[in-house]
Amino acid sequence: MTVSRRPAFADRVEQAIDNVVGAIASPIVTGIAAFNKRRLPPRDAPHPLLTGIHEPMTEEVTLTDLAVEGIIPPGLDGRYVRIGPNPADADPRSYHFFTGDGMLHGIRLRDGRARWYRNRWIRSTDVAAARHVSAAPGPRHIFDTVNTSVLDHAGSGWALVEAGSTPVRFDEHLEQQRYDDFGGTLPGSFTAHPRRDPATGELHALCYEATDPKRVRYNVVDVAGRVRRSVMIPVSHGPLIHDCAITQRYVVVMDLPLTLSMRTVLAGHGFPYRWNEKHPARIGLLPRDGEAEDIRWFPLDPCFVFHTANAHDLPDGRVTLDVVAYDRMFAGDNIAPDEQPRGLERWTIDPMAGTVEQRAIDPAPQELPTIDERRTGLPYRYAYALGLPEQLTETLVGEAPLIKHDLERGTRQVHAFGPGRIAGEFVFVPRSPDADEDEGWLIGLVIDAGGHTTALEILDAQDFEAPPVASVRIPHRVPPGIHGAWLK
Ligand SMILES: [Fe+2]
Repeated sequence: MTVSRRPAFADRVEQAIDNVVGAIASPIVTGIAAFNKRRLPPRDAPHPLLTGIHEPMTEEVTLTDLAVEGIIPPGLDGRYVRIGPNPADADPRSYHFFTGDGMLHGIRLRDGRARWYRNRWIRSTDVAAARHVSAAPGPRHIFDTVNTSVLDHAGSGWALVEAGSTPVRFDEHLEQQRYDDFGGTLPGSFTAHPRRDPATGELHALCYEATDPKRVRYNVVDVAGRVRRSVMIPVSHGPLIHDCAITQRYVVVMDLPLTLSMRTVLAGHGFPYRWNEKHPARIGLLPRDGEAEDIRWFPLDPCFVFHTANAHDLPDGRVTLDVVAYDRMFAGDNIAPDEQPRGLERWTIDPMAGTVEQRAIDPAPQELPTIDERRTGLPYRYAYALGLPEQLTETLVGEAPLIKHDLERGTRQVHAFGPGRIAGEFVFVPRSPDADEDEGWLIGLVIDAGGHTTALEILDAQDFEAPPVASVRIPHRVPPGIHGAWLK
């Protein structure tokens, strides 16, 4: 016999809070948040993410025919474009690294030359107001600050962010920008980390809404740039899901205990996600052609992951997932990530046993893992990650190497950039479409000692520890950012 009963008091309170959180964008909530934001106390020291090496650029510049040391491989014909926060008019009392106005930096390589460098703000409503320019046209969603990653898809460059903005499509010169919800096919927000299936060219994306704590969406974007499939997945508490992974059979969903915090919203802080000990950590395997009820969840100890390196199916039905893992994230008030990662790990999900086995690959602090994306969702051998300083710094960055992992041999190589030089994420560009894995170039930005200039460095991935094959000189500091991409 089924006995229906009223939910326990605690459950009802939680449901009520969930419902209030769902009203994050309501006039009452935004009004209280704005009021409290104005009452936040002034900082008693300069904001470390608005000063020094992070001091935002104040102008958009165009430079042509940049000086180059070494030889740019003639086959590199395209643009390296990187995005990151570069606030046009930030309030230091509430500024969080994840919320700053986005700025694109692009370097065009062709015929062995560095033809141009350009930096351009993503012209959101706030940027347009601060700079007295027109905002980029196109449909908006919950907010329109876009600052996290860059993608080449359907013949365009795209700037991306999670939790609430429409993607921004931009032209060859980063100049013409348009908010574009994939031609009206995107239901809600997108993500900074779609994963491209190399077999089909389609994008697989896990998307969540800052205003809807009860659902996330799995969206598939076809090669023409239209959402062809969308699956709603029920969740609780509004988990922040920064990344996902795909295998040939599954999309991997990371539902971890970093969730929307109404208290933080109401307090007026710029970034409203906090560690939530009441939220169980779990990994989901959703068959790529399945519906929400087909997802299988696997519990694991509380932890957090921003980034996956890759995932793939094993012949016995298990799934391998490589991640940079943290014990926790955003447990207190913060202005940026406030924990060091515990390293690169291999998680093996066993659907038969219902377990997730977690094994360290490399316990050194590192982040922003990248791979040869032609191996996405497939067995692979190499991952490249940016080392982090041994101790967390208030600027997030420091003198640290790039690390190349040979996952087959269980070995690592280190590329040191030299004293005082600050590197960002490096992306892999294959030498040719049919080149072997790892046969190609690693490209990224390195801020020079003293923080007055920047280099676009090109490494030979197969001669990883050697000096760069070419270094393009940018005669100013490009502030540290987040993700970049090689765009044709
Ligand atoms: Fe990311």
